[in-house]
This record gives sequence, structure tokens and C-alpha cells, in this order.
Amino acid sequence: MTGPVVLAVESSCDETGIALVEGGERVHANVVASQVALHAATGGIVPELAARAHLRWIVPVLEQAWQDAGMGWDDVDGVAVTYGPGLAGSLLVGINFAKTLAFVRRKPLVGVNHLEGHVYAAWLSSIAGGNGHGGNGPDRNGAANGQRPEFPLVTLIVSGGHTFLASMPDHLTYRLLGQTVDDAAGEAFDKVGRLLGLGYPGGPAIMRAAASATRSDVVFPRAWLPGTYDFSFSGLKTAARRIVAAARAEEGLPADDVDAPLPPARVAELAYGFQDSVVDVLVTKTIRAAEDTGARSIVLGGGVAANAVLRDRLAGEAEARGIPCLVPPPSLCTDNGAMIGAAGARRLAAGERAGMDLDARPSLPLATR
Ligand code: KG4
Ligand code: ZN
Repeated sequence: MTGPVVLAVESSCDETGIALVEGGERVHANVVASQVALHAATGGIVPELAARAHLRWIVPVLEQAWQDAGMGWDDVDGVAVTYGPGLAGSLLVGINFAKTLAFVRRKPLVGVNHLEGHVYAAWLSSIAGGNGHGGNGPDRNGAANGQRPEFPLVTLIVSGGHTFLASMPDHLTYRLLGQTVDDAAGEAFDKVGRLLGLGYPGGPAIMRAAASATRSDVVFPRAWLPGTYDFSFSGLKTAARRIVAAARAEEGLPADDVDAPLPPARVAELAYGFQDSVVDVLVTKTIRAAEDTGARSIVLGGGVAANAVLRDRLAGEAEARGIPCLVPPPSLCTDNGAMIGAAGARRLAAGERAGMDLDARPSLPLATR
């Protein structure tokens, strides 16, 4: 072992994740039980169902993590857990689980901000195999290539609940540059996915549909919010509604009938136009922020960072300016325990400890301007 081993618990949203991470960088196990199938029936997350599913899966997920890592309590130096932002009921399951483990096993406990976890996924490499969540693969995983983010850096975190652009002068220090003034980027993907009849979650479905587009002439609007690093995606959603309605009328389809979907070629073209708009704004603003702040690296994270077009465009534009761009493999972009272990290790090393009064903070902020 080259550093302390952290057992990390993530349950803020709809994935139950438990990981064993060494030195904040090496993933020994990263088990995620996804609730996607559970929530697909309703087209979105039902908080009460999410909390119950965490409760159902958290012990089997821990058992699988021990098995994958070939480790036991003697190997563990601390316990990290997401305490916000997220769904209150879901957070409470993870927090109480982690508190109990830390208390019974006499290990230090630390609370981690979920968004900070998404940032610190960029430091993870993987020596775990087997379960497909370890983060192996040919992706731009900086640490796996021996490359770590360098400070000062600019980080863009894009998830289902957050769109967050910040500068980091050093570890665990954030200055908020911009955020969404309405919908999060992932939320826009999910809502437009539903409009296009693509089901839940919309992000991966839109990415797949867009990849098969043969035409790219439908242009969606971009909300630039000049003079700020803020984002807005609600106008895009309204435009998507209008564009989908026009396409349906053109195809002679009734306005609202899930049993009469648009032809796949039309869906692909619209998915392409929508994705292009979101990616264009995210990349342009992130690059501008990096240039304005003299960033020595860019870190991309959050579920939407699993999007291949966003990853490639940001990395390409950053590279063209000589700025290294670090993007974790897709399995470490969507919610997982390893990212909480990466951030938790830094916080534990900085001497932070949470007490048995650690509570859920559904609206916990990461940074202020
Ligand atoms: O970070 P995450 O797993 O959970 C939150 O903290 O919210 O992000 C989930 C979001 C969902 O909105 C989902 O549609 C989006 O990430 N997402 C994607 C892709 N994969 C997941 N969006 C675009 N393209 C993808 N490939
Ligand atoms: Zn997340």
C-alpha cells in the first residue's frame, strides 16, 4: 500500500456506490448498484423509492466491494461518505451506514461534498478488475496515464443536478466562476430525451441517437449569457419542445402521442442539434475560463462528462491551447463511491473528521464566488 485506504460510501441520488480507494488515487474496488431500471418506469427519480433501494442494496454492495478488493477491515484507515448535496432520504441511508461502520470499527469518519467527489474522480487510476466499474480502459484517465491535474486548474462539473464551473488554486479550494441559472445540463438532456421519446435517462440515449444522425441542419439556440460564466438551459428546452412539435406536424403525427413516435432519422437529427448546442456552450465557456484564469489544467466531471462528444471537444480544444484536459473514464463520471474515496482521502489527510452528528445537507454548496 502506498497510502491510506478509504472505504467510501455514495448514496446521494440513484446509485448505491461503495469503493475501496488507496492514497486517494488507486481504486481497489468500486461497486455501483444502479437504480436506472427502477426509475425508468416513471421517467425520473422517485425519492422515496430511491431511499428504499439504497437500503436494500447497500449491504450486498459492501460485500461485493470487499470481495473485489480482496480486503478486510484491517486494511481500512478511514470511512468517507457523501453528506450532500442530494436527496435527503438517500443521503441519510449512506450517512447512517457509514457512521455505524466507523463507530463499530473505530475508524475516522469524514463527510464529502458530492460535487467535490466528481472533481476528484480526475485523480483516480485503477488497479481493480472484474466488475467493470474500476475505470480501466482507453479513456482519458489522467492518473492512469501518469498524469495528474495541475494547479491552478479550472473544473467543469456537469451532472443531473448541477452545472458548475470553478477555479481551484489548490487542493480542496474552490472559487465559483459560474453555474446554471435554471436547469442543470443533465436535467436538460433528461427532459429533451423524454420529448424525443427516448426514455430515462436521456443523456446516454441522446448521445446514441445523435451518433446515428446523417443530417445536422437543425440548429438549436445557445444561451451565452455574455459577460458571465453562468449557464442557462431552460430556453433550450422550450426551443426543443417547439422544434419537436414542428417536426411532428411535418410528419403528420398527432401532437402528443407516445405511441406515434417520430421516425428514428428525425429523432437522430434533433438529438444531434440539441447535443451540439449544449456541448458548444459548455466547451466555449470552460475554455474561456481556463484562458482567463491562466489554468494549468482542466478537469471535467459529472454524469454528463460521460458524453463522448463533450469529452472529445473539450479535450481537443484544450489540447490546441496546450492545456492538459483530464476526464475520468465514463464509469467514474457517473455517480460512484471511488470519487468519494478520492476526495475523502484528501480531507482525511488534511485532518478533517466528522462526528456522529454528521447530518444530510441536501443543498450543500461547494463554492462561493
Ligand atoms: O453525476 P450523475 O451520475 O448524477 C448526479 O449527480 O446527478 O449524472 C447523471 C446525469 C443524468 O442527467 C444523465 O442523463 C447524464 O448525467 N448523463 C449523460 C450521459 N451519461 C449520463 N448526459 C449526456 N451524455 C451521456 N453519455
Ligand atoms: Zn453526481
